[in-house]
Amino acid sequence: MSKTQADRDGLITFRAGGTLLCLTAQVSERVQLLYAGPDLPSASAADFERLSTREHAPGGPQNPIANSLLNAIGTGYPSPPGLLAHRTGQDWVGDPCLVEAKQSETSLTLMTHDAACNISAEHTFDIDPGSGVLRCACRITNQADSPLALEWCAALCVPINPSLTNITSFAGKWAGEFQTEQTTLVRGSFVQENRSGRTGHASYPGLYLGESNTTENSGQAVARHLGWSGNTRLRVDHLATGELSAQAGELLLPGEMTLQRGESYATPPLYLTWSDQGYGPLTRSLHRYVRGQLCPVAPRPVHYNSWEAVYFDHSPARLMELANRAAEVGAERFVLDDGWFGARRNDTAGLGDWTVCDNVYPDGLEFLSEHLQSLGLEFGLWFEPEMVNPDSDLYRAHPDWVLQAPGVEQIASRHQLPLDLTRDDVCEHLFERIVSLTKQLNIAYIKWDMNRDIQHPGGEAGHAVMHQQILALYGLIERIKAAVPGLVVESCASGGARADYGILTHTDRVWTSDNNDARAHHAIMRGTAHFLPLDVLGNHVGPQKCHITRRQFDMEFRAGAAIFGHMGMEMDLTQESAQDRAILSDAIALHKRHRTLIHTGDYHRLSTHKHICGIGVVASDRRDAVFQLAVLDPHPTMHPPRINFAGLDPDQRYEIQSIWPQALDKSFGTFAGSALMQYGLQLPITNPDTYLIYHLKAAT
Ligand code: GLA
Repeated sequence: MSKTQADRDGLITFRAGGTLLCLTAQVSERVQLLYAGPDLPSASAADFERLSTREHAPGGPQNPIANSLLNAIGTGYPSPPGLLAHRTGQDWVGDPCLVEAKQSETSLTLMTHDAACNISAEHTFDIDPGSGVLRCACRITNQADSPLALEWCAALCVPINPSLTNITSFAGKWAGEFQTEQTTLVRGSFVQENRSGRTGHASYPGLYLGESNTTENSGQAVARHLGWSGNTRLRVDHLATGELSAQAGELLLPGEMTLQRGESYATPPLYLTWSDQGYGPLTRSLHRYVRGQLCPVAPRPVHYNSWEAVYFDHSPARLMELANRAAEVGAERFVLDDGWFGARRNDTAGLGDWTVCDNVYPDGLEFLSEHLQSLGLEFGLWFEPEMVNPDSDLYRAHPDWVLQAPGVEQIASRHQLPLDLTRDDVCEHLFERIVSLTKQLNIAYIKWDMNRDIQHPGGEAGHAVMHQQILALYGLIERIKAAVPGLVVESCASGGARADYGILTHTDRVWTSDNNDARAHHAIMRGTAHFLPLDVLGNHVGPQKCHITRRQFDMEFRAGAAIFGHMGMEMDLTQESAQDRAILSDAIALHKRHRTLIHTGDYHRLSTHKHICGIGVVASDRRDAVFQLAVLDPHPTMHPPRINFAGLDPDQRYEIQSIWPQALDKSFGTFAGSALMQYGLQLPITNPDTYLIYHLKAAT
């Protein structure tokens, strides 16, 4: 890394992977973020410095105040400050100024210091050349002798193109994750806070912003995501000045972050990507980033998960039978879910006692490990390491190991309490239990669950330790992975309540939702895929009658839903008819045939009529593609509509084949990519609750 151009002209132009950042960088001056967005050919910071000049506005400050990295109170910038700190009521008005800037081809570090408060702030910016995604974070250090109470620190205050007032956010609930919501920002603030102690169901720390007429493939847009699995705040402020300013950071609890001299606090990373061709490129850039930087693409074995087949009613004979059936239909990994340990015969007892239940499994689980090996299946095992039932040996031995706030009653939630991972003895115990079982049973995969919110994260000394708890969680997973080379870890939290880039830096897959109703799951997958690629999204075929919604669907529909994702199944296979098992087996074979494409290709949301939802995955060379169309309601017209494909090469001819459901399997011949995208393919007359899958292959 070298010192930058800033030394010479006080300006920084930083471009990589199609992203451009322009800043002022005059030593001893405040750093202004002049431009952050899609790269603009030949534009440089000098252009934006002059273009951003504004005259004095009546009623406003003599010299209009520009957006800086943290918009600290001392700057007077009219948005909520990005930094809130004080020393028992003093040193609250800061204004950090540049000390030094260092830049390499893909990263930039800005060291700033606030002389009035004696705080330093170091901002790092990395642009991933493969995706153009910008990752930035800030580290605050207390340089004074007296403690600094830090209340809020945004990773960065980002100026947003003021025409991007259309917000797409993702909110949900258990079994109804990632519901996509649209809001138009008026003057004022859009704020999303999460205080659930995990990423949470209710408000995902990620947003898309677009213009009023931004579509999938036209218009300006930006996506932001905070990579953090604890409490978060995301805000967008539409200011009286006409500017839009956005912040994201960790929501700190009172007194949680008190820095002694020399101590630092690092914000979670904020991820940003911009597009001038609509929302679609945002999704594809984020997918490239996740695949390239967080969860490298690896073959994703088809899962069988035991949860909905047996719940807590385990027996060796049942598991052997289910494993046989799973192998027959094409599963490649068998995940034994909750209920195998301690006194865990229901969800009120045993959680935390990570020893195989000797009543149910008197000879241990080795028999299953060996049986799975003989069937060619990997063994995956469920853990919920961060939790304990009060009715457990662990809690009886160590009642002080749980998080608790003094003088406040514990909140009941699924009969379990969160363990205090900031204690070394707790992590040591969990590490030993998980690693020894994993080695002993030849476990290749852990489903790491976390099934309750944490409202009162008080540590041993009574202080809030939510931040440390999340870092300890990340550290524990890393330690376990290092001790068991090749171990793959899934992040689950009552379904999809922990699916952020923070946890995905340490895990490999997320469980999207406990709701495997094939109709509901389509919307959940579509919402989640705004940030995560299909290869990391667990997508399972459920039982005929969905256990969550009680709706019934035939096997073609259930299986057609799960083909687009990291496919698995989660039902009692002994209750499925031979005919349905044959259909399931065909669906799994189809998934395997197209798995590499589905797990590596570019994702496209199709524009369709309201009763249909469509997505497609197109290979990077655009010679191979698969599309999935969910027909959810009856066609309102006599003839169904035509479907316009997306992402194809307009100059290429494609051979197109309908490959699901099997009854509709047929070839349509070859067509120009341009015609398939602009004119579209006539859909067949089908019932609602049909997944249609098409395969397109370049003809020449
Ligand atoms: C959570 C998970 C489920 C299952 C149960 C087990 O709800 O989301 O998939 O593992 O816990 O208790």
